[in-house]
Amino acid sequence: MILPIYLYGNPVLRKVTQKVKPDYANLAELIDNMFETMNHAEGVGLAAPQVGLDLQLFVVDSSKFKDKDPSIKNHKRVFINPHIVEEWGEPWSYSEGCLSIPYLYGDVTRKAELRLRYQDEHFQEKTETFDGFFARVIQHEYDHLQGKLFIDYLPLLQRNLIGKKLERMMTEGKYEVDYPAHFLHKK
Ligand code: NI
Repeated sequence: MILPIYLYGNPVLRKVTQKVKPDYANLAELIDNMFETMNHAEGVGLAAPQVGLDLQLFVVDSSKFKDKDPSIKNHKRVFINPHIVEEWGEPWSYSEGCLSIPYLYGDVTRKAELRLRYQDEHFQEKTETFDGFFARVIQHEYDHLQGKLFIDYLPLLQRNLIGKKLERMMTEGKYEVDYPAHFLHKK
């Protein structure tokens, strides 16, 4: 089932998320729905707050970017209760976007490698090292779980400019997206 994506301005995107418990009802279904929602919207990653849930869960499907990361074998991944243990390596910049902030992009500088402790969809505890494009996607999605968005990294001037654009989109209801979304029109 395709879920509506919560857009910028919705408070759930700024919440610090809760741990997912192994007995969370219909977790497998939620994960399936998140993959379906992400693929339909042509995203590379999707975090639970983007479907309105303040949970420590995100999914990644980087198959579309195979060429960027030939070393990655398994592109479709589930990350539950993740914790970045360490980040290191030469910081690099990349133009990021977000399904919750349609049409807007900005260069974000992040460290190149990270070690992540997490649980997979079977609640198996794992610790793994990521680099390249895959690490970038993980960092972006991980931020969502802390209530953080990529625009927070932009220089103040650019952030204000984007903020104004977003504000205008919201108040004028000009958010047009190709996927089901939760709009937030300010009155
Ligand atoms: Ni995002």
